[in-house]
Amino acid sequence: SDEQLHERIQQAKATLGEDLVILGHFYQRDEIVKHADFIGDSFQLANAALTRESAKHIVFCGVHFMAETADILSTDDQSVILPNLAAGCSMADMADLPSVEACWEQLMEVYADEQDGEKAPVIPVTYMNSSAALKAFCGRNGGIVCTSSNAATVLEWAFERGQRVLFFPDQHLGRNIAKAMGISEEQMPLWWSKKPLGGNSEAELKDAKVILWNGFCSVHKRFTTAQIAQAREDYKDQNLRVIVHPECPAPVVEAADESGSTDYIRRAIEDATEPTVFAIGTEINMVNRLAAETPQHTIFCLDPVICPCSTMYRIHPGYLAWVLDELVEGRVVNQIQVPAEDQEHAKIALERMLAAKP
Ligand code: 13P
Ligand code: SF4
Repeated sequence: SDEQLHERIQQAKATLGEDLVILGHFYQRDEIVKHADFIGDSFQLANAALTRESAKHIVFCGVHFMAETADILSTDDQSVILPNLAAGCSMADMADLPSVEACWEQLMEVYADEQDGEKAPVIPVTYMNSSAALKAFCGRNGGIVCTSSNAATVLEWAFERGQRVLFFPDQHLGRNIAKAMGISEEQMPLWWSKKPLGGNSEAELKDAKVILWNGFCSVHKRFTTAQIAQAREDYKDQNLRVIVHPECPAPVVEAADESGSTDYIRRAIEDATEPTVFAIGTEINMVNRLAAETPQHTIFCLDPVICPCSTMYRIHPGYLAWVLDELVEGRVVNQIQVPAEDQEHAKIALERMLAAKP
C-alpha cells in the first residue's frame, strides 16, 4: 500500500543517513517530493549534484538527462541512481548525436569561407534536456549547455564567440529567447534533420542568427493562446497573472504576462503579497502542489485536461523504495554512468554554463 511504501522509504533513508541524498525535480508527484532532500529546477538540481560531495549515493528523482548531468558533475566516488530507467524525456530523444553531427558537417561546408574570421561561424548550444553525448558534442566544438533559467545569458555568451547559434533540441525555448533578444523570426530557420541543409537554402543559413532544431516538449506544446484568452475572460475583474514555461510556443509566451523556469514560476507565486489568480502553463503535478501550498491564491493549469509529464511520472514510490532497499543491502541498482569520453567533454560544456552567471 502507499503507507507501506512510505514506511519502507523512510526506514531506508534513516538507515542510509548521510550516505544518501535524494534529489527531485518540481514535476515529481507529491509521494516522491515528500521524501526528497532537495527539489528544484534543472539548473538548481545540477548545482545540487555538484555540491553534495559527502553523500555516497545520489538518488535522482527526475528524468534520464538530469541523472546523467548529476553523474557528470558529481565526484567519481559517488553513484547516481535513477529509480526507473524508463524515465526519459521525449524532447531529449528528438536530437541524437548522428543527426546533430550530420547537421554540423553541412553547416561547416556552408560556412567554409568564414572559418578564419574573428568569431566562429556557429556555436552549438544544447538545452539541458539532451543526452550526455550531445553535451559532449558541445564541449568538443566550442559550445555550451543552457537551462530555461539561464538561456538568455548563455546565448549572449555564445554570440560573444560566434556569429550564429545552433540550438537544440527545443525549438520553442530557442525561439523565445532569441526573440526576446531582438532576433527576427526570419533569422531563425528550423532544421529538419531528414532534409538536405535541414530544408533550408544556403542563403537562409548564411543570414541565420539562430538555427533551431525541430524538437519540442509534448506537454508544453499543448498550451494555446485560446486558453490564455479564456482565462482573461473568466477572471477579467480580478488580479490575474498568466505565467508560462518558455518551452511553450512563441505565441503563447507572448500572450502570457511572464515566462520562466519552473523555479521562476514557484518564486513568482511565493513572492506574491496580494491574493492573486495565477493561470500557469506548465506541468500539472507542480501546479497542483503550488495550489495546495498557497491557498491564499487561486492557482490553476491553463490546460484543463493536461496530462502530467508521463516520463517524470514513471518515478513511482515503488521504484524509489526498491532502489533504497537495494542500497541498504549494499547493492547499487539503476546506476547512471556516462561513458568516460563523454564525461570529460560534457563537463566542459556544463562548466561553461555554470561559469556564465545567470
Ligand atoms: P526547468 O529547468 O524549468 O525545471 O525545466 C525542465 C523541464 O524539463 C521542463 O519541462
Ligand atoms: Fe521532457 Fe517535456 Fe517532460 Fe520536461 S515536461 S521532462 S521537456 S517531456
